[in-house]
Amino acid sequence: MALERTFSIIKPDATKRNLTGAIVKKFEDAGLRVVASKRIHLTMAQAGEFYAVHKERPFYGELCEFMASAPIVAQVLEGENAIAKNREVMGATNPADAEAGTIRAEFAQSVGENSVHGSDAPETAAIEIAYFFSGLELVG
Ligand code: CMP
Repeated sequence: MALERTFSIIKPDATKRNLTGAIVKKFEDAGLRVVASKRIHLTMAQAGEFYAVHKERPFYGELCEFMASAPIVAQVLEGENAIAKNREVMGATNPADAEAGTIRAEFAQSVGENSVHGSDAPETAAIEIAYFFSGLELVG
């Protein structure tokens, strides 16, 4: 399998608890390489645009408010099978269902405040990477 890239966010609940390094270590230990990284504080409009696919969901407003409540760390992760591997390392969306040793099992506080986001498919990875990074910022 060729090298693949995926998009990752370390969410406000994790940056507030100073867990950025612990979470990046989980990615690196799984063989994923950070090829782009930036710490930013999203506006409500930016969070809303990023999560536009969830606009009709009942939790959309709450999700956007949370994502704009404190800094996030946006990253591009590279590796063999990076999209699936990142999802494995993150664990299930709801931490109650996440396997032991995964990021969400260890760090997430609830289904909303679940510490990390990761792309779910190559098409969404490409869109999400381009939303946060220019080609010049991806350094493999
Ligand atoms: P993420 O992978 O970032 O994609 C969409 C997010 O919506 C998801 O992680 C959860 O954090 C959030 N989410 C999903 N279900 C709920 C819910 N029932 N209540 C609040 N947030 C949710």
